Amino acid sequence: KIPARIAPSILACNLARLSEECHAAIDAGGDFIHFDVMDNAFVPNLTFGAPVLKSLRDDGFSGFVDVHLMTTDVDRLVGDCVAAGANSITIHFEATHHVQRALTKIRASGCEVGLAVNIATPLDAIEFVLDDIDMLLVMTINPGFGGQSLIPAALPKIERAKRLIDNRGLDVRIQVDGGVKVSNIRAIADAGADTFVVGSDFFSAQSYKERCGEFRAELA
Ligand code: DX5
Ligand code: ZN
Repeated sequence: KIPARIAPSILACNLARLSEECHAAIDAGGDFIHFDVMDNAFVPNLTFGAPVLKSLRDDGFSGFVDVHLMTTDVDRLVGDCVAAGANSITIHFEATHHVQRALTKIRASGCEVGLAVNIATPLDAIEFVLDDIDMLLVMTINPGFGGQSLIPAALPKIERAKRLIDNRGLDVRIQVDGGVKVSNIRAIADAGADTFVVGSDFFSAQSYKERCGEFRAELA
């Protein structure tokens, strides 16, 4: 069984204290930071990008950061994120006509390679690039905002993704993002996910450490 990983999404943290929040999330038991870049074009919201990641690095945060690029112009932004200190970059299948090229570019940079699919995107779409990725992100909401509810149709999709990856004998992680809570993480894990982005249900907790323990207890 693949060990589960918890990835706090700093979209839900106090962004005025980004560096402290990242340290606190990792100290509490988070495995890595999920960094949501939005451009108000691919998704209807605007967040932060490579300059903010660079500041976080300059401020001394050395933990693992996975950049979730919810943007168009993927080819150009990948380079900026690498230079700013990303450890892993996840792009959307829907964001570029040249998915394989973008994945190859991430691979060549030395970063881990992630590919996200929106809820309506069939898994057939990514079948021929599965060899090029380390992680498949099955979106469990429509991206753009934290605090939404998981779309139930994502669960059978996760099951199907798990079968596809196992049948091919690949070592590709299955990540989920959106609406993951203590109350549903077990069902999502049972469907086949192993990497869990947690935003509002993590950062709304009084104690991040206790909340992280609650997630881990559900997964045990
Ligand atoms: C939304 C982002 C998510 C978001 C999840 O588009 O990609 O990472 O932070 O937040 P919750 O866990 O609150 O649904
Ligand atoms: Zn995200």
